[in-house]
Amino acid sequence: MRFPEGFLWGGAISANQAEGGCKEGGRTLSLIEVLPKAENFDRKVLKMPFLTREMLEEGLQSDDIKRYPKRAGIDFYHHYKEDIALFAEMGFKVFRTSISWSRIYPDVHQTEPNAEGLQFYDDMINTCISYGIEPLITILHADLPIQIATEYDGWSNPAVIDLYLKFCKTLFTHFKGRVKYWVPFNEINMDLISGSRKMGILHDGEDNFEELVFQGLHHEFIASVKASLMAHEIDPDNKVGHMIAAFSVYPNTCKPEDVMAAQDEDRIRNLFFLDVLNKGAYPYYIFDYWKAHNIHVNISEEDKTLLKMSDPDFLGFSYYNSRVAAADTSNLEITGGNVFNSIKNPYLPTSEWGWQIDPIGFRYQMRQLYDRYKLPLFVLENGLGCLEKLGDDGCIHDDYRIDYLSKHLHEMKIAINEGIEVWGYTMWGCIDVISAGTAEMSKRYGFIYVDQDDVCEGTKKRYKKDSFYWYQHVIETNGNDL
Ligand code: BG6
Repeated sequence: MRFPEGFLWGGAISANQAEGGCKEGGRTLSLIEVLPKAENFDRKVLKMPFLTREMLEEGLQSDDIKRYPKRAGIDFYHHYKEDIALFAEMGFKVFRTSISWSRIYPDVHQTEPNAEGLQFYDDMINTCISYGIEPLITILHADLPIQIATEYDGWSNPAVIDLYLKFCKTLFTHFKGRVKYWVPFNEINMDLISGSRKMGILHDGEDNFEELVFQGLHHEFIASVKASLMAHEIDPDNKVGHMIAAFSVYPNTCKPEDVMAAQDEDRIRNLFFLDVLNKGAYPYYIFDYWKAHNIHVNISEEDKTLLKMSDPDFLGFSYYNSRVAAADTSNLEITGGNVFNSIKNPYLPTSEWGWQIDPIGFRYQMRQLYDRYKLPLFVLENGLGCLEKLGDDGCIHDDYRIDYLSKHLHEMKIAINEGIEVWGYTMWGCIDVISAGTAEMSKRYGFIYVDQDDVCEGTKKRYKKDSFYWYQHVIETNGNDL
């Protein structure tokens, strides 16, 4: 069993969890940076916080980095040269990160982009290229400019499409010939659950919230397809892929009602988004769901025609854990998961955050996505969040991470040898970053340890973990030796 020649090995982070420098170089705050850090939560069963208008106003008045650690990130803004040199030392062929919209357009109405913002990304991207590392850019990774929420009511307003496309056009033209791989939205399926902070729709608790979120999603779909068409027009060499956070959903028992519940969850949480974006039309089952939930979404004939023009080159997905669904969930044990909780699967171990570790579910998911969409896959995120402390020897002996990654890569290798086309793999949080879900620093994914704690104190010095050398060897042997 082999990985193909030219397989793109690498790692991934996002601007909002790593960069910091939130008010430097003319940048303004983003929505995710006014959401305060979760406090006193149960690590094993996560309750995702919603962003309210009050929180937004309070956040705008505050400069308290300890409460808003994403504003500090890991100071990648000033450390990117050193960090990318470490990625190069591991042998990365690809590095995935995102571009902060409010660094490029600090005021979304500006007609010209912020030159200082572009300069930072020029330097960062040129550094990657100087090492032969292919940059892969997520255009929007959870950090919506504040104005989109305060002036537009988030993505529920169709006017946001053009603002986003202005941002895209700047990126596609400015980085033409240097960036080839683009992902319009990080994990677009998560927006259905995180409508307030990711889509800027601050109406939680109101009756029509779900309707607004679906309307917002429709605008994101239109924006995705238009962005992809634009990317291809500006440079036919560009490769664009739509991305979801993929979960394999298992029925709790073989009772047909449970099997049905699993299929329902798989459709509404995973497949719906790719059905629209990769097949170019709304699937029949969503109309039934909308009817049952009294949801009305405005979709014009022009929009339907546009969706049909959808032209993705690959399918991007993240995979961390599988899930379990049941027709009747009462009295069933619940455990954590990426953004939302799941019924506990008795056959699987969990991470310290209750996420169910399931490498076989990874292959199951690759089969499902490849069979259904027939597009080359790109694994954009996969990894294990752990509590870690630097040892007296200045090392982190993370054999648990090596075990997790090695088992997932093994399943990917089998999938590839079964005939599934996979272009690359960017391990999530290749350097420790601030957690998306809880804004903790102590949830660490990296091959590289960053000396910084939950309140952003520490030297910010970088240390190589044991997994650093392990991954270096994996890349060196093109995955022959896992
Ligand atoms: C993905 C996100 O859903 O999960 C990342 O795209 C995130 O931004 C990752 O960091 C892991 O989640 P968390 O909450 O452990 O940081």
